[in-house]
Amino acid sequence: MLILGIETSCDETGLALYDSEQGLLAHCLHSQIDLHQEHGGVVPELASRDHVRRITPLFNEVLSAANRQRADISAIAYTAGPGLIGALLVGASFARSLAFALDIPALPIHHMEAHLLAPMLEEQAPTFPFVALLVSGGHTQLVRVDGIGEYELMGESVDDAAGEAFDKTAKMLGLDYPGGPALAKLAVDGNPDRFRFPRPMTNRPGCDFSFSGLKTHSLTTFRKTDGNDQDKRDVARAFEDAVVDTLLIKCRRALDATQLKQLVIAGGVSANHSLRQRFADYSQQSSVEVYFPRNEFCTDNGAMIAYAGFRRFELNPNASNGTDVRPRWPLSELSVA
Ligand code: KG4
Ligand code: ZN
Repeated sequence: MLILGIETSCDETGLALYDSEQGLLAHCLHSQIDLHQEHGGVVPELASRDHVRRITPLFNEVLSAANRQRADISAIAYTAGPGLIGALLVGASFARSLAFALDIPALPIHHMEAHLLAPMLEEQAPTFPFVALLVSGGHTQLVRVDGIGEYELMGESVDDAAGEAFDKTAKMLGLDYPGGPALAKLAVDGNPDRFRFPRPMTNRPGCDFSFSGLKTHSLTTFRKTDGNDQDKRDVARAFEDAVVDTLLIKCRRALDATQLKQLVIAGGVSANHSLRQRFADYSQQSSVEVYFPRNEFCTDNGAMIAYAGFRRFELNPNASNGTDVRPRWPLSELSVA
């Protein structure tokens, strides 16, 4: 079967075609970075309008890249939440209209479920059960994953998500949106020994996170410096090291508690080079295997939605839905079918 995946939850329009026999055939992405950059962050109304503009051309593009016709599509998977309501509605309306016209099912997909399944698109794929660290712009969660729809939340951020903290700290250092990658670039040439930031909540039991204090810590540290370029690099480095270290400490805790030996890391922040390096080193020194999506599938994309759609369709071909999108949608509310 051939699944079309559609992602429009935030500032990326992503479409992909996944074949149950051949795997991922093609994926296309339009990023709205240029559109939102002058506003310093995502403007929801502009995001929705841009999804409307891009979705049909991208649909045609992904079909021709995969050398397939509309009539070849067997089901359509779309992000139904969590995300920006207007942006979600564009993908949902497009998916549901097309599915109606082609007389095929439309499957609503949970964006974070798709993120956590993304490493399964790789050759080196994890197998259930595993621990997943989800680190995106809106979520930081540690989840025990026993199968599709079998998710036990072990911990989450009590305030800012990791990506959000990256973005806010970057803004404070005067960097352009999207801040995460820009801050990471600065941190490469930062001195790791100049500042040492706290590792929040690591002295308390459990797997919850808190990142808003690190953002404030970055600001107060930066204000005490001259504010030159090297100061920015050093603060960025201290911030990034603290986030990555904290994530690692909590992941080890979750792995210890579950006795599981596989760790999946997904979501936008999993594209962070320093994080990938740190966890790869940890994997080498321990008996834990760490799995990442390829870089372009860490951030939002259509491929993960198509893949999640395929896995959901396998479980329940009749999961075609009502009309709602869910801007807020806890992962823990998902079930097997
Ligand atoms: O998963 P994603 O594309 O969208 C959401 O579902 O939120 O994640 C976006 C987040 C943003 O906060 C962005 O700054 C962060 O991921 N991000 C990074 C990097 N690439 C993206 N953060 C740190 N280092 C990166 N290289
Ligand atoms: Zn995402």
